Amino acid sequence: MIDEKIALITGCSSGLGYALAKEALDRGFHVIATARDPQDITLNHPRLHPRALDLGCEPRITEFAATIKEEFPHCDLLINNAGYGLMAPLLDLNASALQEQFQTNCIAPVTLLRATMSMLNPGATVVNIGSVSARLVTPFAGSYCASKAALHALNEAMRMELAPFGVRVLLIRAGAIKSKFGQRASRELGALARPDSRYASIAGAMRRRASLSQTRAAAPDKVAHQIIDAAESTRCPRELGVAKGNRLLALFSHLPRRIKDPLLSRQFDLHALRRDLGND
Ligand SMILES: NC(=O)c1ccc[n+]([C@@H]2O[C@H](COP(=O)([O-])OP(=O)(O)OC[C@H]3O[C@@H](n4cnc5c(N)ncnc54)[C@H](OP(=O)(O)O)[C@@H]3O)[C@@H](O)[C@H]2O)c1
Repeated sequence: MIDEKIALITGCSSGLGYALAKEALDRGFHVIATARDPQDITLNHPRLHPRALDLGCEPRITEFAATIKEEFPHCDLLINNAGYGLMAPLLDLNASALQEQFQTNCIAPVTLLRATMSMLNPGATVVNIGSVSARLVTPFAGSYCASKAALHALNEAMRMELAPFGVRVLLIRAGAIKSKFGQRASRELGALARPDSRYASIAGAMRRRASLSQTRAAAPDKVAHQIIDAAESTRCPRELGVAKGNRLLALFSHLPRRIKDPLLSRQFDLHALRRDLGND
């Protein structure tokens, strides 16, 4: 059994999760790093413990928790990082795609917390990786934004409900981070694409939305450093904004709808579609 600091971090095969695992190792943690295929976690370190975890399915999460409880005595830092963006117009989404988005991005973090709570002693910290997209909703990102908004709300309840047990909860409001996020979002969009979509003529705008976060993005290593610094701090904040555009986009989200809607409508070609359909 390990008598040192232990971190459990989901989604470590790429992007922010990979950088968080590396940062936690650098700070002396044992890191239980998860991905659907642990061989995709290309880090190599004696304190790294790669494990398979598919967050898409509740029984797999509870099975996973049962096995790590046998191996590891406690968990000092749980980072709910894994997630992806389902980018498509709501009219093109089927219920199962929407359910999977919610399962991975906001139901799984709660399931994982419940399943590992007995490992979280007073002083432990739970970090939920949220997004500016929880506040700034754009066309073609409704399901992703809704899943992150739900995660933000769940985080609030989690923080208050875990306080009596001495467990701290930190919400990360992330802006753009260099990762495979855009690649996966584009893949999901491609899988849903239908020739009879009412938005077929502006498919380029949907593709732009899917890869938007990757055009000007922060280095994940720098973001991971900020996150673990905050999580380890004796005065752990309740919320932390990180990465490119997090402040500016949060400000933009407060604009009145009569100003914001036309700007977003132009940016994502809905304005042109409306004109083409003669609904000006
Ligand atoms: N990149 C950005 O600009 C940005 C901005 C705001 C918030 N975020 C958030 O940051 C977090 C990390 O994303 P990233 O940008 O680093 O993207 P990424 O490079 O695509 O990494 C996502 C990670 O999540 C894992 N994952 C996805 N679906 C999963 C599932 N069903 N079960 C288990 N693991 C799953 C992936 O593992 P597999 O190898 O198993 O697919 C991968 O390790 C996400 O929560 C995302 O919403 C990102």
